[in-house]
Amino acid sequence: MFWPKNVLVTGGAGFIGSNFIHHIFKNSSFQGRIINVDVLTYAGNLENLVEIDRSYGNSRYFFEKVDICDTEPLQEIFKKYNVDSVIHFAAESHVDRSIYGPAEFIRSNIQGTFILLEAARKYWQNRKDVLFHYISTDEVYGSLGETGYFYEHTPFDPRSPYSASKASACHLVKSYFFTYGLPVTISNCSNNYGPYHFPEKLIPLMVTNAMDGKPLPIYGDGKNIRDWLYVVDHCAAILAVVKKGKRGEDYNIGGESEKTNVEVVTAICDILEEMYPLKDNPKRVNFPAGIKEYKDLITYVKDRPGHDRRYAVNCDKIKEELQWRPETDFPEGLRQTVQWYIDNPGWVEHVRSGEYKKWLNQNYGPRRGQP
Ligand code: NAD
Ligand code: TYD
Repeated sequence: MFWPKNVLVTGGAGFIGSNFIHHIFKNSSFQGRIINVDVLTYAGNLENLVEIDRSYGNSRYFFEKVDICDTEPLQEIFKKYNVDSVIHFAAESHVDRSIYGPAEFIRSNIQGTFILLEAARKYWQNRKDVLFHYISTDEVYGSLGETGYFYEHTPFDPRSPYSASKASACHLVKSYFFTYGLPVTISNCSNNYGPYHFPEKLIPLMVTNAMDGKPLPIYGDGKNIRDWLYVVDHCAAILAVVKKGKRGEDYNIGGESEKTNVEVVTAICDILEEMYPLKDNPKRVNFPAGIKEYKDLITYVKDRPGHDRRYAVNCDKIKEELQWRPETDFPEGLRQTVQWYIDNPGWVEHVRSGEYKKWLNQNYGPRRGQP
């Protein structure tokens, strides 16, 4: 079993990265150091890690505000912290944004991965006691019809600039394994949900819009299917791959929980009706006329261009080889997620208003982190 000592986590201030940093410190026997490298785009928020910083800051947790496309500072970080593993989350992650502005996806997701691979290759030379783990997505496999699943051997068929950029990066990572012998692993995961999810993706957008009395925009006929996985289960799967995964291999990770978008949005409305009843909602006075229950806010809108119809992941390989399986069922995970958004209105307000950037400058300044 491989237990890294000095782990460079890229994109640790984002949704999955910050959940992963919580997970590795709190739910595992990890004894090493985490170096969080994040440039803090609109999606990166250090508030997600305040508790970690308080407990481990400058002893086992370090933050470096660096763009993964900047070669020199990245190479310095490898040296400064004697990095022996990389878990690479940093990316532009929203399909809709990739449709309206693909350039940043090409830069961060493809070029950024290349620069990170080069930094690792140069610093590690030919060491084998190191690891570069790449966090990818099931979206690289394209779109399924009514039946079938994505397997590790399913050919790539990306349909959006986002999924194409992730597929390109997967190919680069694999090429470094075959060409340079760099120890790599890749995981391809389905849609995550849970705390700290930026409220532009389906689940947090619907929860926060419903609480505010805003429309709940469902694209097309709402029958597109996603396979939902609670983010903490994803974090456990990543750790399993890092510790025990075979080098040079891909592992699919999924929730075995297929839902249409309408099912998801309706379930959110039902949970809110129970946990945060409309009749007691303080913002109710500002809701549009005629809204009697949260479901009345559902609005069907124009479909997303190139909208993938169905994703469903077969994760037998990781179950059999690494004894991982999803533990949180969708109704329970969704309840916990809705509760988190009810309990954290300040977080939602900060990420939405850009207020957190002011908070960041006041509290952290431009650059921070000591070895
Ligand atoms: P996110 O958008 O919430 O976070 C991305 C983080 O990366 C942010 O903190 C951002 O500041 C940082 N970042 C972006 N560009 C950077 C750059 N050039 N240099 C340094 N930092 C940069 O994304 P997420 O949902 O947490 O996704 C994390 C990873 O997991 C991504 O690679 C994504 O493709 C992958 N993934 C996500 C899902 C999902 O459902 N969210 C599913 C499968 C795979
Ligand atoms: P999203 O959370 O953007 O994840 P992805 O596109 O990576 O799967 O979207 C999940 C599904 O929800 C997808 O089928 C698009 C749909 N969707 C809506 O119907 N309305 C919305 O406002 C958003 C953001 C997504």
